[in-house]
This record gives sequence, C-alpha cells and structure tokens, in this order.
Amino acid sequence: MGTISFARGIPAPECLPVEDLADCARVALERDGRTILSYGPSSGYAPLRDWLAARHDVDPARIFLTNGSLQGFVFLAQRLAPGKRVLVERPTYDRPLKILKELGADVVALACDEEGLDPDALERELRAGPAPAFLYVIPTFQNPSGRTLSEERRRRIVELAREHDLLVLEDDPYGLVRFEGEALPSLLELSGGETTYSSSFSKTIAPGLRVGWFVFPEALAREIEAAATATYITPVLLGQATVHEFVSRGRFEPNLERVRGLIGMRRDAMLAALDRELPGVRITRPDGGYFLWAELDGVGAGELLLRAEAAGVTFVKGTDFGGDPGSLRLAYSFVSPDEIADGVARLAAAIPVTA
Ligand SMILES: Cc1ncc(COP(=O)(O)O)c(C=O)c1O
Repeated sequence: MGTISFARGIPAPECLPVEDLADCARVALERDGRTILSYGPSSGYAPLRDWLAARHDVDPARIFLTNGSLQGFVFLAQRLAPGKRVLVERPTYDRPLKILKELGADVVALACDEEGLDPDALERELRAGPAPAFLYVIPTFQNPSGRTLSEERRRRIVELAREHDLLVLEDDPYGLVRFEGEALPSLLELSGGETTYSSSFSKTIAPGLRVGWFVFPEALAREIEAAATATYITPVLLGQATVHEFVSRGRFEPNLERVRGLIGMRRDAMLAALDRELPGVRITRPDGGYFLWAELDGVGAGELLLRAEAAGVTFVKGTDFGGDPGSLRLAYSFVSPDEIADGVARLAAAIPVTA
C-alpha cells in the first residue's frame, strides 16, 4: 500500500454520482443549451438560484452562485478585508486564512473549545474595537476541528452581531453531511435571514462541478456582482445547470443519504482505529463532515509529520490552521475504511515513545 492520506479533505471517489451527472449534463444541454453555452448573468444560472432561494426562504436576488464557494469568499474578502480586522475561529480553514493575510487583513483568531467559537472571546474583541470587517465562522462540522457550535452559542453570536452591527459570514459546506444527531438551526435562520451564508455542492454532489453559493444582503450581492463580472463575466453555467437538473429530478436527497453512509462508515473506522491504537490522545468525535482533530502532548505535529510520511501516512499539521503545535487534522473522507485502519496504525507507530 502506498502513502495513506489523511490530508486530503475530498470525497472518496465512490461518493461521486458519475453516471447520474453525465445524464444530467446531457439533458441540461439539450434542454437549455443556448443559455448554458453562452455568457449569462454573473450571479449564475437563474433556475438554480430560484431553487436555492426557496430552500433558504430568501429573495433570489440574495443568492449568488460562484465557481466553488471559495471564489465567493475571495470576492467578499477583496471587497471588505484589506487593511481591516477580520475575526476568525482558532483553528480555522487554512485557505481563507491565507487569502485574508495576502489581502493585508489584520486576522484576529478567537478562542474555541468543544462547543465551538467562544462568544465571550467574540464580545471582548468587539468591545476592544476597531469594528471588524466581518466574522468568518464555520459553525457545523468545522474544518479543521470537526466541532459544531452549540445552539446556545449560535443564539448569542447572532445577538452580538446585531448589537455590534457585525457582518457574519457563516460557511456551511458540511452541515448536510450529517451521520447522526439532529441538525441545529443555522445562524442565517436564527438571525431571521440577516447574516451572510455560504455553502457548496462540493461535499453533497461533487467538488469538480465547482458550484458554490452565497446568501448575501442585497446591497452586498450587487457589489459582489461587479467583482464577478470583472473576474470571469459569467460563472460556469454548465456545472450549475447540471446541478439544477440533478436536484429537479429528486436525486439530491437520495445521493446525500448514500454519501452520508459512505463517509459515516469512514468516520466510524477512524474513531475505532484511534480508540484502539492511540487511546490516550484527545480527539474530537464529529457527528458529520470530513475531519477530526487530534491533540498530542509533548510532540510537535511538524516533527511527527516527517516521521509519519516516512512510515507511509500523511495528515495536515494543526499549525497550518492556526492551531497549537501538538494538533493535527485527520481527514477520513477520502481513503477506504481498511486504509484508515492501516493509516492510524502507521501513525501510532510514528509517534515517539516519550509522547
Ligand atoms: C470550510 C470550507 N469552506 C469552503 C470550502 C471550499 O469549497 P468549494 O469547493 O465550494 O470552493 C471548503 C473546502 O474544503 C471548506 O472546507
């Protein structure tokens, strides 16, 4: 067996509904090819925007489709972040961190614990001023920690945002990939539609389609539209129309059930292997999503990564996400349950005995 990757936060190949999507793309082209194959609105394919607007119970003018949700994050950050304070969770998804730093934002990482972002830390930062451009938060099955923000904290964060006129960006690509437990209300729902929300079909259908979406306040949607037009004129309508055909046929829910099963059994395999091989290590036990977070005492994840790679297993060290030196992100989404068992055994063997 080659190197086993716990680094790749991507779906296992069998999650991808290849044949269904091939048929959806063909039918979408046959039905609406003259629209899909031309330039169109920079906010994306109207029928899919309408479908999403109905799901979120918002005006379609607030729905903005991008080539993957990360592209939308770039538009938002370019517009709001340069020279400003931006609040994030510690740890948080590494790509936004890099984007914000490259744009010259003053990134302030707020403390998190098992229940997610600490609202007291947020309140202290809001009182300390100056007013931040926005708060970026991943409340459900967070990347990288797998943690979920509790309902009480969600309510408090929404209240604080209202009180301080804070723009909140809730990034939610993993919320529907739930294996067990009840879904919590989103910040968007709790705020009565006031907060900004992003998600993506990357984890629920296929990342290669590059279809992400935002629910913006209307004024911001118009500003972002200008940025999108200047960047690519029109996003890739074929991917969006393919998704629209997929959801219109009623394939979304059954596919999601299948994906939940496939990823959920990988989560189970990883928890079982960690309990067996590394019983003393602190780990999160997510009810969904792609990742869990491990914290080691007395060993740096950078050094461990070198040893692990030599032993044929890889992961991402927590410091890449702003985490502590002994933390690591383990993605269980990509490799098979057997590879997970082997990979965790290799990882355990790579940990120096003093740790
Ligand atoms: C928290 C989070 N947000 C956004 C993205 C980007 O998703 P997309 O494929 O829609 O650009 C990812 C991808 O891994 C992610 O983990």
